[in-house]
Amino acid sequence: MLEQPNKKGFQMKTISIDKEKCTHCGLCINDCLSGCIAFDNENYPQMIDETRCISCQHCLAICPVGALSFCGKKPENSEEVEYNDIFSLIKSRRSVRQYKNEEISNEKMSKLKDMLNYVPTGCNSHSLHFSIVEEKSAMDIIRKRVNELLVKTLSYKAISPLVNKFSRYKDALLNGEDVIFRGAPHMIVASSPLSAPCAAVDPVIALSYFELCAQNLGVGTCWCGFGEVCLKFFPEICDMLEIPSGYKPVYVMLFGPPAVKYRRTIQPEPYKIAEIKEIHEKDSCFFCKAKRLITNFLR
Ligand SMILES: Cc1cc2nc3c(=O)[nH]c(=O)nc-3n(C[C@H](O)[C@H](O)[C@H](O)COP(=O)(O)O)c2cc1C
Repeated sequence: MLEQPNKKGFQMKTISIDKEKCTHCGLCINDCLSGCIAFDNENYPQMIDETRCISCQHCLAICPVGALSFCGKKPENSEEVEYNDIFSLIKSRRSVRQYKNEEISNEKMSKLKDMLNYVPTGCNSHSLHFSIVEEKSAMDIIRKRVNELLVKTLSYKAISPLVNKFSRYKDALLNGEDVIFRGAPHMIVASSPLSAPCAAVDPVIALSYFELCAQNLGVGTCWCGFGEVCLKFFPEICDMLEIPSGYKPVYVMLFGPPAVKYRRTIQPEPYKIAEIKEIHEKDSCFFCKAKRLITNFLR
């Protein structure tokens, strides 16, 4: 069943609970990024704000007893998690935002670092730089520093429109919650020199490989867009992470032993794929071509 837009144009996000199965464990509530599920009067999970829901389906994936359906997608129609098969691994990989208060083993850390040497780079420039926070104590220092800098920055009037957009995160940050690094014990930052032929793409490829290998080893990961923005705005954090001068920190990934377990795959809406089997040449008008060129180069 597809999510239906309501009158305001929002996609209706609904959950339904099999009351025979639900054990009231609250895992779906704890793992909801947007905080849009809560217990009702009878202690069953209910959607409290569908406008915040981003359809990640973590609620469907995490339920230990398969009691929760998301927008009509039933748990029995998900696939089981099988980390040894690359296709299943890709389907089962979830962003982990709850970590155990411990580091990953040295063996896993070494395997992941070694793997990075093999990732492809444009023109084989092999010029990436990785900063890996290996000790949780070091991560805690970065966490504290970034949070201090953010709290200070939040008081600047000039950025208040942006801050208001993320007011939920602001409140959580001021409450001492680690909304940026999610309590992760480790972080990897992939940077590339501005001169690299594919400077914007190489680090993202490397982190994509890293994520799959990490999750294959049972290590949780989470792409950290907020972390990337913090690195951009707070150069002192780049120094703490020993990012060489002339290198741009392109993306950040959190990782560590997961404190959550996902039981089944999500059921995403299928992408529209243009299946090209024969070519129909079109004589596009000047404006259509110009529009396409602008789109291509703005991207
Ligand atoms: C480029 C990128 C940046 C992201 N940044 C963040 C972030 O800053 N914080 C966070 O909690 N999740 C972040 N995520 C995770 C997404 O929210 C997540 O991938 C999405 O909700 C789908 O959930 P899934 O990864 O479990 O399938 C990011 C993901 C991507 C791909």
